[in-house]
Amino acid sequence: MYSKKVLDTFANPKNVGEIENADGVGTVGNAKCGDIMQVFLKIENDVIVDAKFKTFGCTAAIASSSIATEMIKGKTLEEALKIKNADVVEALEGLPPQKIHCSVLAEEAIAEAIKDYREKKEKRA
Ligand code: FES
Repeated sequence: MYSKKVLDTFANPKNVGEIENADGVGTVGNAKCGDIMQVFLKIENDVIVDAKFKTFGCTAAIASSSIATEMIKGKTLEEALKIKNADVVEALEGLPPQKIHCSVLAEEAIAEAIKDYREKKEKRA
């Protein structure tokens, strides 16, 4: 039921792990399936210089995390926020309908991590 791209990405995920002293951390979950995704960002001058993830979830969630963290590296925060779950699905060459929510987790985790970064920045200012 998965595209070759999903299976390849799942078998060799990129950016697995945690960034120590990350500038932004986003944790999101889906109550229905119980899967959890955590995204860590290193940000310099509003550009994402590094991104990693830890995902407790299904094949599609892990493939989505891997491809989404690849997509946002080198992007400004504004550009990263424009990456939606549909872009993640496209990059994965499709997801089965019942697995679309897994790509939504990636979009949400990135948005949360950027929000966390902005909140921390405001507190420091
Ligand atoms: Fe819920 Fe994939 S089944 S994240």
